Formats: sequence, C-alpha cells, structure tokens
Amino acid sequence: MTDSNRIALVTGASRGLGQVIARVLAARGYGLVIGGRDRAALDAAAASLSQHTSHVVLVAGDVTDPAVRASLIEASLALGGLDVLVNNASELGGIGPLEAFDVPRFGRLFPVNVGAPMVLTQLALPLLVQRRGLIVNITSDAAAAAYPGWGPYGATKAALELLTRTLAAELKGRGVSAVLVDPGDMRTRMHQEAFAGEDISDRPLPEVTIPFWNWLFDQDPDTITGERFAAQKEEARWLQQV
Ligand SMILES: NC(=O)c1ccc[n+]([C@@H]2O[C@H](COP(=O)([O-])OP(=O)(O)OC[C@H]3O[C@@H](n4cnc5c(N)ncnc54)[C@H](OP(=O)(O)O)[C@@H]3O)[C@@H](O)[C@H]2O)c1
Repeated sequence: MTDSNRIALVTGASRGLGQVIARVLAARGYGLVIGGRDRAALDAAAASLSQHTSHVVLVAGDVTDPAVRASLIEASLALGGLDVLVNNASELGGIGPLEAFDVPRFGRLFPVNVGAPMVLTQLALPLLVQRRGLIVNITSDAAAAAYPGWGPYGATKAALELLTRTLAAELKGRGVSAVLVDPGDMRTRMHQEAFAGEDISDRPLPEVTIPFWNWLFDQDPDTITGERFAAQKEEARWLQQV
C-alpha cells in the first residue's frame, strides 16, 4: 500500500506538535482526520493541510467526550480505514507543588491524557488490525524525571507509558504496533503555560521533530513496537539520515 492510500488520525492537531505531525503525514499523502476543541483553529489547520492532501476531515470537540471519540473513528472509517493513530492531545493541568495540588483535578487530567488515548485505541483497533496499523502515544520526560511542580502531569504520562508498553506486548503478533514518542522541549502553547511569564524563545519550534516523524513513518511498525523514542535526541538514528 502506498502512503497515498493511507489514513491517519491525529488528536490535538490544531496547533503545536499535533499540527506538525499532521503536516508531515499530509505531505506523505496520507488522508487525515484531525481533532481539537477550537473549531476555528481546526478549520485553519485543515485549510493548510489541504495544500498537501485532498482528504482532510476535522472533528471538533473534547477527547473526553464519547461522542467526539466515536466521530473521530467514524470519520476515519469514512475515509477508508486507519493506518496510524496519534494520541497527541494533552493537558498540563497547572504547575505547582503536590502539597497544594487539588487532588480532584486528577479527575480531569487522567481522562484527557490517559483515558482518551486508551478508549480511542480500543475503538480504532478493529480498523488498525486490517492495515498492520501503528499507535503513537505522545509522552514527556516528565513521566520519569520527578520535576518539582510537574507531578500530576508527569503521573499521567507515566501511566500512559506503562499502558502503551503493555498494549504493545498484548498486541504482538496481531499486526498492530504501539510506540511512545517524547518530543522534547518545544516552543508551544503548553510549554508557555508551564513557564508562564518566562521567555521560552530558546526552545525550538515543534518543526524540529520533522526528521524524526519522517523516519518513524518509514519504519515497518512490527520492528519498532514497544519502543520509546526521543524525537530530539542527539545522534539519533533519524538525525543521521541525509
Ligand atoms: N511542548 C513541549 O515542550 C512538550 C514536551 C514534551 C511533551 N509534550 C507533549 O506533546 C503533545 C503536544 O503538546 P503541545 O506542546 O503541542 O501542546 P499545545 O500547543 O497546547 O497543543 C495541544 C493540542 O491538543 C488539543 N487539546 C488539548 N486538550 C484537548 C482536549 N481535552 N480535547 C481535544 N483536544 C485537546 C489542543 O487544541 P484545543 O485546545 O483547541 O482543544 C491542541 O491542538 C502533548 O501530548 C504534550 O504533553 C510537549
């Protein structure tokens, strides 16, 4: 199957990293389903993607909403199926010490950052299995680093990492692969939210990860399942490619 017959679903594709991933996939000829809550931002993202691919469908809404998740999968099916699911949409939930953390806020953070990727995976599996599909879950170094103030967000990413590795093990031999990608620090709205009032102009734009994405989507999914990649890691395989 050529890339022009392939279809990808990217959550949180209205800006930041998700928009860059969607652009890479569109440039490779993928049909795309893109998600995010802000319809105007999604409209703009879809218009820009349609320079590369004639098949872009947007689904506006919150990833925690079951109807939105069902629409994302239905839109993929309407395009013909699903090859790649990128669970990118995520919320930071505020930065601050655990002693002052409003614990009930886990009730928002876990459903967005962990529950939604898992449910979307469950809904997407019947489509992915037909096309030797790939699930890409976006993580962070905060999943392991114990940065002061980042505990709740980091905990959601740590949970996502364990679940993704478990999923990869469970799906082995069934023709669906799952990987983790830590994109590294990037100058996006979420990063600015984390460093409120600070100058983050020394951080690279999310476009810095483009060589990684092109490398990843060239791989046979079976050969990389269960792996965790750091998209900006120096001397990485993808950066060595000309
Ligand atoms: N930036 C960094 O330095 C960095 C570092 C490590 C990992 N990451 C990870 O990279 C991924 C992308 O982050 P980013 O920096 O590109 O963030 P961003 O610029 O804030 O973009 C987040 C995207 O997700 C969407 N989104 C957020 N919550 C959503 C929800 N509940 N339902 C549907 N869509 C939602 C946003 O659109 P709406 O707000 O319109 O819904 C937007 O399209 C995240 O998984 C993040 O954890 C980022």
